[in-house]
Amino acid sequence: MTTVLKVEQITKIYASRGKMTYTALNDVNLQAEQGEFVGIMGPSGSGKTTLLNILATIDKPTAGRISINGHNPLKMSNNDLSRFRRRELGYVFQDFNLIDSLSIKENIILPLALDKVSSSEIERRVQFVATRLGIEDILDKRTYEISGGQKQRTAIARAVIHEPSVLLADELTGNLDSRAAKSVMDALEQLNTELGTTVLVVTHDPFTASYCKRILFIKDGKLFTEIRRGSNRPAFFQQILDTLSLLGGNFDDVPSTRLS
Ligand SMILES: Nc1ncnc2c1ncn2[C@@H]1O[C@H](COP(=O)(O)OP(=O)(O)OP(=O)(O)O)[C@@H](O)[C@H]1O
Ligand SMILES: [Mg+2]
Repeated sequence: MTTVLKVEQITKIYASRGKMTYTALNDVNLQAEQGEFVGIMGPSGSGKTTLLNILATIDKPTAGRISINGHNPLKMSNNDLSRFRRRELGYVFQDFNLIDSLSIKENIILPLALDKVSSSEIERRVQFVATRLGIEDILDKRTYEISGGQKQRTAIARAVIHEPSVLLADELTGNLDSRAAKSVMDALEQLNTELGTTVLVVTHDPFTASYCKRILFIKDGKLFTEIRRGSNRPAFFQQILDTLSLLGGNFDDVPSTRLS
């Protein structure tokens, strides 16, 4: 197995004005193998977004080491870093972040604009991801003409069109109802299987988390525990609920029973 992502002893201390500091991450270690589907759960304020933003190289840790597909983003110049982000990382947000003035297809191919990719190759890739994500019929539409689930599947298509080694998603089903969340997670699972992209999702939602093969739970900036899914998703769903109640803290989402 190839390790695609390695985080060693990451600490993040936010220094606000004056002398107040806040330790958002405290000596976190994690590793993900190529093609793994990993979840990160934890109470509000436990450091999930901080961790994801550090992996996305949007933010820098106060201490620790990161390796993504053999690269060390902490040692890169700004030029190298932007190329690294473009090649190795895909990011999906809670609020889709699509551009309303562009069509769905134009949104999806945007990340390829800076790289020299031929138009036939662009076409091939759009068809490939759009089919996997079930959005091949809406490519010419505008963002206001499609549903929330379709928007998020478009955002996933955009995040994987350049074939990144790691896809990072922060609360990607947070703005979706349960049906749309299911459509998004089914699509993501299929992409993960077929493309072999390593996926890391931060989520509050046990249903969304039940798609993961392994879930890391963090509490107060530290790794609390890790669980692995067997073959049975309903059993894993229950295990997630049990671990969350063990973890305590405030969760915005009331654990739902919408696992089908
Ligand atoms: N820029 C910042 N400056 C100072 N403190 C910050 C900053 N960003 C986050 N924090 C603090 O760090 C802690 C972790 O924040 P983070 O956003 O990572 O939590 P989270 O687990 O994603 O929470 P949620 O589930 O609510 O999204 C919180 O206490 C937060 O207030
Ligand atoms: Mg967050």
